[in-house]
Order: sequence, then C-alpha cells, then structure tokens
Amino acid sequence: MIQSSSPHRFALHTAHTSYLLEVDPEGRLLHRYYGPRTGSCPPLASPHPDPGCWPDRLPQEFPTPGLGDNHAPFFALEWADGSRAADLCFAEADLCPGKYALPGLPAFFGEAPVQTLRITLRDPKGLAVTLLYAAFEDCDLITRAAILENTGSEPVTLQGLPSAVVDFTRKDLDLITLDGDWAAERTPFRAPVRPGVQSVGSVGGIPTHAHNPGIVLCTRDADETHGSCWGMALVYSGNFRLQTERTTAGIRFSAGIEPQGFCWTLAPGESFTTPELAMVYSDRGLGRMSRCFHDAVRRHLLRGRWRDLTAPRPVLLNSWEACYFDFTEDKLLTLARAAKQAGADLFVLDDGWFRGRNSDTTSLGDWTADPAKLPDGVAGLCRKINELGLDFGIWVEPEAISPDSDLFRNHPDWALQIPGRETLQIRHQYTLDFSRAEVREGIWQQLTALLDSCPVRYLKWDMNRSLANVWSAALPAQRQGEVFHRYLLGLYELQQRLIQRYPQLLLENCAGGGARFDLGMLYYSPQIWCSDNTDALDRLMIQYGTSFFYPPCVMGAHFSTVPNHITGRTASVEARMAAALSGTFGFELDLTRYTPEQLAELRPFVDFYRAHGALLRSGELWRLCPPDGSGAAWAIASGDGREAVVFGVGRVLDGRRLPLPFVRAEHRYHIQSRMTGRPSGDETLEGELLAVHGLPLPAIRGDLPGYLCYLQQEE
Ligand code: GLA
Repeated sequence: MIQSSSPHRFALHTAHTSYLLEVDPEGRLLHRYYGPRTGSCPPLASPHPDPGCWPDRLPQEFPTPGLGDNHAPFFALEWADGSRAADLCFAEADLCPGKYALPGLPAFFGEAPVQTLRITLRDPKGLAVTLLYAAFEDCDLITRAAILENTGSEPVTLQGLPSAVVDFTRKDLDLITLDGDWAAERTPFRAPVRPGVQSVGSVGGIPTHAHNPGIVLCTRDADETHGSCWGMALVYSGNFRLQTERTTAGIRFSAGIEPQGFCWTLAPGESFTTPELAMVYSDRGLGRMSRCFHDAVRRHLLRGRWRDLTAPRPVLLNSWEACYFDFTEDKLLTLARAAKQAGADLFVLDDGWFRGRNSDTTSLGDWTADPAKLPDGVAGLCRKINELGLDFGIWVEPEAISPDSDLFRNHPDWALQIPGRETLQIRHQYTLDFSRAEVREGIWQQLTALLDSCPVRYLKWDMNRSLANVWSAALPAQRQGEVFHRYLLGLYELQQRLIQRYPQLLLENCAGGGARFDLGMLYYSPQIWCSDNTDALDRLMIQYGTSFFYPPCVMGAHFSTVPNHITGRTASVEARMAAALSGTFGFELDLTRYTPEQLAELRPFVDFYRAHGALLRSGELWRLCPPDGSGAAWAIASGDGREAVVFGVGRVLDGRRLPLPFVRAEHRYHIQSRMTGRPSGDETLEGELLAVHGLPLPAIRGDLPGYLCYLQQEE
C-alpha cells in the first residue's frame, strides 16, 4: 500500500516493512525511513543543519552532483555549456494501481494491490527525473527505477546514473557481497562497512563470476533468524555497480549501471530509463530476507508456462560432462537410452553439434548440424530421441562468433571490435555486436530455423566470455558509451522474441557456468545454470550464496560423476543428489558406464523429485546449517509447515540434532529418510521435539555422506 498523507509525504508499506519519503521546505526529496512497518517518521538526525554543510548531512533520495553534496557522486552529467551540476527539486507526484513497466528492460510485474508511486523532480536548466516506486505487499518487496528526460533545448550527456540511492542513518552495518570465480560463484563475503567508498560491480558487459549484482546490508547481530537485513539486487545483467559510502551522516547505498564505459547523450525531448533495483527489508534475519526475494521472483518475475511451479519440470540429462565435444549420433542415442532407464524425461545435446565444432576453437555462429556427427541433422537426432520416449533440447551460444566460422568470414564487421586494434579472443571467440538490429536478426533467423526444424523443448543459451573491444560500427564516435547498455537491450529483445514465439520452450540461461546469474535474466528464463562446478561439496557453498536472492527452483543443478571432473572429489550418491535435487535437478554424466542395476538405483531419486517437485519448487528455503567447508544442512518446507524435504551433507550428519523451525509443534510428523550407508527408514516424531530439540541425525562416517528425508504432518 502506498499512502500520501500530505502532498509532501509518501509512505510505501508492505506487510512487514515501510519506506518513507518527505519533501523538505526547500523542495528537496528526502529519504526518511526504511525498516519495520510503521506509521510515523523518525525525526531527522539534524533538523536544522548548518547551511554550510547541509547537502552532506541530508538523506537525499536522489542526490545530485556539483552543488555541495560531496559524497561520491554516482549521478554524473554534462550540460551543453560544460557545467556538471544538477539541482533537482520536487515537482509533482502521482499514485496508480499496478506495477510500472520499463520498456525494453526486465522488471518485476504485478496487478493491484501492487501500486506505483511516481515522483517527478525537476532541474530548471532542463531536466526531469521521474522516480518510480512499487510496493509488493505480499512479499515485502519494494522496487525502484528512474527515468531521466531532457526537458531543455540543448543536449545533456549522462555519464553516470543510479537506479536508486538509499541513505541509512547508521554507520555500524555489515556488508555482504556474493563474490567468486569460475567454478566458485557467489560465495558470501561479510565485513563491516568501512569509511569511504566500497563497491562491487562489473565492467565486462556481464556481471561476471567475480561479483553478483545483489548485496545485503545488515546489523552486526544479523544471522539466519535474527537481526535487520536490507537485501538489494539489480534487475540487470550487464555492467553494474553496487556502492556503499560510509559518510559523516551514515551509509549511502547507490546502485545502477557502472558509470565507467557509460555515456549517453539525450537530445531535447529524449529520455533514459535505468534498470530496476529490488529491495527487501527483514527484521528476522537473512532467512526471511531470502524467502521474500524467492517469493517475489516466483510470483512477480518468472513468466510464461514455467511460472506455474506445480507444472512438472522435465528431468533432463545434459551431454556435456558425458561427451564434451567427442560424440557420434550412436553414442548420443546410447546415452539417451541410459538416461531413459534412469528416469529422465529430456535429453539435452550440449556444445559440439554444429559444423566443425570439435573443440572450443571454432564454428560459433554457424548454427547448423555437423553432418559428420549428426548424419540426419538435428531434426533426425530429435526424431530418434523422441522415439526413445524422451523430449529433446539443445545448446547454443548466440552472442558468440568464432574467428574460424562462416559467419565471421561473411560478416567480419558483426563482431565487437575497435578499428585498428587487435580484437581480444577469450575462449578463442569474439562477441557479436548485439547492439545492432541486423546482427540480432541474422542470429534470429538461424535460431528460428533450428527451433522450427523439430520439436525442441529446451534451449540452453550460453555466453562464455565477457565483452571487450566494445565499439559499434553502427554508432558515431560520441555515442560509443552507449554500446554496453544497447548490447543488453538487444539481448533482452532477442530473448523476449524467443519466449514469445516459443511459449512452450524451457529456456535456461548460462554464462561459462554462473557468470550471468541475475534477476534480469530470470525475467526471460525460469532457470540459470549455477556453475560449471558440479562437485557436491563446492555446490553447497555456490547454491547457498545463490540462495540469498534466488530461489532453489531457478538454480540449474545436475547430478554428476565421481571423481568430480573439476575437483577430483568423490562424494556419495546421496550428497550429489541432495545438491541436485535442491535445484532444477537433472543428470550430467556418462550413464552408458552404468550397469542396469546402477541405473535402477538412480530411479528412486527421480521418483522422489517427481513426487515432491512441486514442494521443492514452491516451498520456503530454510538454511539450517550454512556450509562450513565440510557440509551443510537445509530444508524446503511448505508455507503451512505441513510437509518438507530436509537435506544434509557431510559432517553435520554426525549424530547431531537439527532443529526444524518450520514444523508445527502441536502435530506429529511422519518421516521417510534415506542416507548414505544405511537402509531407508520411516519414523514418526512429535513436532515439538523436531522444532525444539531437532531432528535426530544418525552418526554416519565416510567421505561425504548425504541425507535426505521427506516429512509430512500426520492428519
Ligand atoms: C560452458 C557451460 C557448460 C557447457 C560448456 C560448453 O562452460 O557452462 O555447461 O555448456 O560451456 O562449451
């Protein structure tokens, strides 16, 4: 609910939180409060600030550069006369039902009771900034974005533009970022916010493996169940910056497109729309914050057929770790038969299927089948896979182009490149200039030819490098700072066309593992490959960090072989299954090496996924024991506490008790469990015992044992 108690006061309320704004007598829009739901505004820290230093002390909702606010300006612009200051004063506001949309950009959506507040600020020199807010009561989500319009008669150049700024009046908060590397994405890192500026971001055109576009500010005491947490994540998949500055007055948080490499000139009458920032406040720790984000993603971001979490998702087998580039049609069909025996529904042909692609050095851009591997083409393989009773899916990397490809030989100018400079190859490939409509059209024609040639039910859209040599032949010199963002707009446009034309298609995004795992991509694909690292123990940390903002049902996770291809570690079947079942679940290993008996042993896990898939996708995540390098425990429970799946891996299983905060103390629960090295068991326990003393876990030794159980309330 959004209220405006006077023309100068605005309150956004969700079920448990409030966000308050006020226009001061000078017309400045001030941020007044973001925290537990309240009806009243706290007094300003310094109600009558010294006029000489006020801009530094006031919590400004959209701070501007050049007129006395000396905190690291995120907003930077240049007028035609060379001056770089802006002075935005409140002009008007209005409220409307439903959620605002951002043309061409991904964004959360919702009908009433979701409401939109629009506040327009103006600079008399010729600028209007419209701040957009929406309040989603059901999941404590508040979203923001800004539209900047040149209302003057001369061009204005934007050199940095935040989506949102939030001033916190306290300085003693911790900052949690999700950082990492290839095969080690999104590992939480927590430290006190220190004086000065700190930021995470990307200049690589994709978020990259190094940082995720989501951060948490929290009180020092915050843990899974206690403390105040503000989670903030951009709905954007390109260059981003999330910045804190500990100032004299508190902590200023700013979020938006990374200013470095960005420059956008607005002619009179033109406007620019920022990506959206999503914010959740929780006064019950990180656990509730994440559950709010998960609900928001599932209800207000995922679209199309796969938004229905009760609709079964296919159990797939992906050919990558089974074959890499080395396969024939016969080998694929043998693998598919084994997948069918293990209980899979869908066979995914990963990289290596197109003309001449026998290693990662060639052929990206030539999206037709290699006759040496697929004599009857993709359509022929698809038909044979379908005859085995499996659906068919395929891998593509549409943004990429190999120097050794017909596409590059025919259209050398389609690659991003700076004239006169050598173009950087990463993984032996260039990137296509997706800011250009004709380049996208060329790829679109190839993609639709592929998808129209046979019933493709699943598409893995990969992107195996960051952008470099960013320059577009289609733009004049003074507009080259637009290329990064235009690339993203082009990517979004193409994925939008794709899901509109193929509404039944299950799209999974991927970027060299999880280098582009963000809310923006989730608007187009209901799942994203988490990481190339499928090792169960490493996955605990990767999926734990990912779960700060993103629900388990969007995390691409597969059961793979041991010793693991990346780590060499041998984890138990149950541990590997626990990690995979907590995500989208599928197989990624050479099942042709399995005996019929071994394949049959995988079936109960597939049956488990089928039986409890709807719960696993729609349930609430409880991180019971965060990963500590030797194991972890977590659960996915229905909101009413009637049923849950509990997972444990590693040392946490060593004879300890695991309190389950989501069970109803007054009920009894039937528990069916399965763990490494022990026969499956059934027991009935009191809810009170489970909630207070905990689920008794057996003492299990062994390298990396795993445990999973299904709990159901007795009638
Ligand atoms: C990336 C993906 C993998 C696989 C390979 C194929 O690394 O993350 O899953 O598809 O590309 O080249």
